Amino acid sequence: MCGITGYIGSRNAYPIIINGLKRLEYRGYDSAGVMVFDGEQIQLSKTKGKVSDLEAITNIDESRKKGSIGIGHTRWATHGVPNDVNSHPHVSQSGELVIVHNGIIENYDTIRKELISRGYTFQSDTDTEVLVNLIEEVKKNENCKLGKAVQLALTNVIGAYAIAVFDKTRPNELVVARLGSPIAIGIGKDNEEFFVASDASPFIEFTRDAVYLEDGELAIVKRNKEIKVRKISNDKEVDAVIQELQLNLEQIEKGGYDHFMLKEIHEQPKAIIDTYRGRMLPNEGIIRMAGVDDHMSKFLHADRIIIVACGTSWHAGLVGEYLLEEMTRVPVEVEYASEFRYRNPIITPKDVVIAISQSGETADTLAAIKLAKSKGAFVFGICNVVGSSIARETHAGAYTHAGPEIGVASTKAFTTQITVLSLISLKLAQAKGTLAKSAVNNYLQTLQLIPSQIEKLLEIDDLVKEISYVYKDATNCLYLGRGFNFPVALEGALKLKEISYIHAEGYPAAEMKHGPIALIDENMPVFVIATNKGHYEKVVSNIQEIKSRSGKIIAIVTEGDVTVKEIADHVIEIPETEEAFTPLLTTIPLQLLSYHIAIMLGKNVDQPRNLAKSVTVE
Ligand code: M6R
Repeated sequence: MCGITGYIGSRNAYPIIINGLKRLEYRGYDSAGVMVFDGEQIQLSKTKGKVSDLEAITNIDESRKKGSIGIGHTRWATHGVPNDVNSHPHVSQSGELVIVHNGIIENYDTIRKELISRGYTFQSDTDTEVLVNLIEEVKKNENCKLGKAVQLALTNVIGAYAIAVFDKTRPNELVVARLGSPIAIGIGKDNEEFFVASDASPFIEFTRDAVYLEDGELAIVKRNKEIKVRKISNDKEVDAVIQELQLNLEQIEKGGYDHFMLKEIHEQPKAIIDTYRGRMLPNEGIIRMAGVDDHMSKFLHADRIIIVACGTSWHAGLVGEYLLEEMTRVPVEVEYASEFRYRNPIITPKDVVIAISQSGETADTLAAIKLAKSKGAFVFGICNVVGSSIARETHAGAYTHAGPEIGVASTKAFTTQITVLSLISLKLAQAKGTLAKSAVNNYLQTLQLIPSQIEKLLEIDDLVKEISYVYKDATNCLYLGRGFNFPVALEGALKLKEISYIHAEGYPAAEMKHGPIALIDENMPVFVIATNKGHYEKVVSNIQEIKSRSGKIIAIVTEGDVTVKEIADHVIEIPETEEAFTPLLTTIPLQLLSYHIAIMLGKNVDQPRNLAKSVTVE
C-alpha cells in the first residue's frame, strides 16, 4: 500500500503535502514524490527513499516548492522496483496530467500494449503510468474534461485504486477516485481549500470535516466550489457525506517516545481500558456489545465460528479460538484470510465469520469477508480504524478503540483484539449458559485488572534491555508456548523477525520434539512461555529438554515461580491472572524484547524494510 496526499487552496501546497507524507509513511516508504503547480509549470520532484530524501532534493531548489495546488506520494512498490523513475507522481505523455496512485491495476499490461499501439511510450515499469496515459487517451478521444475522462478510464480498469489526478489545463481542480483503497477529502472553511489523503492524519490540524469516498466513487474537488461526488459506474451524482473527524494531533505524534512502536507498547493499558470501557460492568456481570446483542440469535444458532485474519490479527484470532471454545463450547476454526479466500471453503448460512483487522483495509481479509457473505454467513468485524472498508463491509462488529497504530509492527492492536474477543466469548458464554454467573463475574473482574498489571510489567524495561543485549547477535530464535500462549509464541517470533530481521520461529512447546529440537545448541536462544496455569509441568519438561541440549532459555513465568527459575538462563515474571488472559501479559515482554533488540541492531523499528502497515494488495 502507498500513501497519497493532495492540496488545493490558497496556501502553499508543498509543506502541507510533505508533512502529510511524513504522517503517511507508515503506509510505504521505499520512494516518495511531490508535484506542485506554480501557475505555469509543473514542478515534479521524486526519488527512491524516504520523504526525508525527497526533502533533501526539494531543499536545493525553492522553485520546486511553489504553488497552491499539488499532490504527493509515499510508495510501497508493487509494479517495478523502488527507484526514481518508478516513484510517483507519474506524468502523462503530453506532460499535462499528473497522477498519484495507491493500489494495483491488474489489467495494466493489456492497456499498456493497446496504448503502445497508439503511439504511447513508457518511462517506468508501473501500472500507474499506464493509468495516467489511459486517462489522457480517453480525454483526447472524448474531448472531455478531466473528471469525465477519469470516470470513463476507470470503467476500463480492473484492480484496486485510490488516485488523485491533476490536469495542467484545469489548474483549479483535482479529481480523486477510489475502489478498494481508502481516500479521504478534508474540507476547509467555506470550501476555500481541500485536502486529499489516504487517511485523515495529514489534515487534522486544518479541518475536522471530511468526506470518505465509498468504493466506486469519484470526487471533483474545485477551489472555492462545493465538492461533487459521482459514481464511477454510471457517472451519476451522489451526496457527499461530510463526517466529523474524531482523530486528534496528539494521537498521531510520538508524544516523547523515540518510536511509535514504543509509544504504542506503552499505550496498551489505556488502549485496553478504552476497548472495554462502557462494555462491561464487572461487579454486576454485565457485558454490553451492541454488535453482538443485535445479532445474538446468529451467534447462538451458529454451527461454528470461523475467524479470518492476517499476521498479528490472525494470532489474536488463534487466542480467540482458545477463548471461544473454552468459554462457549462452540467449534472455532481460524483461517489465514489469504488461504480461505482461494480454497473454496465450505461455508453455510449457519456459520458466523469473525474478521479481525487493525487497519480494516487488508485486501485478503476483505476478500474473505466478501466470499463468506456471498455464501450466506453472518460476518462480524473486529477493527481498529473507524469507518474502514472492513468495518463497512461486515454485517456488524466491534471496534477496538486502540487509537491510531502507526508503528508497522502491531502491538496494541493485538492486545485490544484479544480484549474484544474475551468480551465476546464471555457474552456468548453468559447467553448460552456455558459459564456460571460467578465465573463470568470473576473473569470480568480479572480482565479489569489487566491494564494496571501491564503498567507494572512495563517497568521491567531495564531487565528486558539486559536480556536483549545478550541475544541481539543471535541469528535464529525459537519461541515456545502452549495452549493460550501458543499464539503468543507465534506473535513473539513475528515481532522479532519483522523489525530486527533475525530469523525466528514460534511453535507449540510440545511440537518441539517433532523437529525443531534438532536446531537446539548453545547458540540457540529459546523464549519459552511457562506461566503457572495450563500445562505448566509439561512446559517445564520441554525446558529441561532444551537445557540438556545446551540451548539458552529465556522464560516468561508467573510471579513467585521457583522451578523454572532454577533451570532458565533468564526469567521475566508476569503478574498472576486467569490463564485465558495470560496472552495479554506474556506478549508485553516479547514486544519489548523485539523492540530493544532491533534498536540495538540499529534497525528502523517503525519502518522495517519491505513492509507496509497494512497490505491492501494481494
Ligand atoms: O491491519 P491488519 O490487522 O489486517 O493487518 C494484518 C497484518 O498485515 C499485520 O498484522 C502485520 O502482520 C503486522 N506487520 C504485524 O506486526
